[in-house]
Amino acid sequence: VAPKDKTVKDYIRTIVDFPHEGIMFRDVTTLFADPRGFRMAVDQMLHPYAGQRIDKVVGLEARGFILGGAIAHQLGTGFVPVRKKGKLPGKTISEAYTLEYGEAIVELHEDAIEPGETILLVDDLLATGGTAEAGIKLIERLGGKILSCAFVIDLPELGGRKKLEAMGMDVSVLCE
Ligand code: PRP
Ligand code: HPA
Repeated sequence: VAPKDKTVKDYIRTIVDFPHEGIMFRDVTTLFADPRGFRMAVDQMLHPYAGQRIDKVVGLEARGFILGGAIAHQLGTGFVPVRKKGKLPGKTISEAYTLEYGEAIVELHEDAIEPGETILLVDDLLATGGTAEAGIKLIERLGGKILSCAFVIDLPELGGRKKLEAMGMDVSVLCE
């Protein structure tokens, strides 16, 4: 594909058996490393929300920070991180969740979102939806209203999108 005809998907590579056997790992570092690819991904992710009120972008560790920071900058909003347990220095609330390959706890500063604020949730990839679900619960516990959850990639066979939509979430993805 000529560089000018490349889509977001063309910049993402798949690494077989990472982080362990049987996982086809979608690697977005090649998307982020390319100036055209990175800009395309950020622009396409925020495009549906142009002109809508968004108070904060919340990004999920770790790759949601890279996308979410760029999207927040472009929208002119603040950025709030949902982090893995033990990383945030202030008073936090936490949620446990199950991952495609493991278990974890994520945290959010309890003063990071005001009740009624409109939130755009951002991450690179939707697999089982466990990480995003935990992020959604944290935001909603603080009274945040989630406008939408935006991802670069959805792995439909893992059911994450259906899970989030069953929770009443609007979900946007750039590719599968
Ligand atoms: C990956 C990915 C999402 C999550 C998706 O992150 O970036 O955050 O898994 O999986 P799920 O839909 O099944 O929950 P990972 O847990 O590998 O963390 P990292 O970005 O900090 O490496
Ligand atoms: N790529 C990146 N993160 C992931 C994946 C993947 O394929 N599956 C679950 N988390």
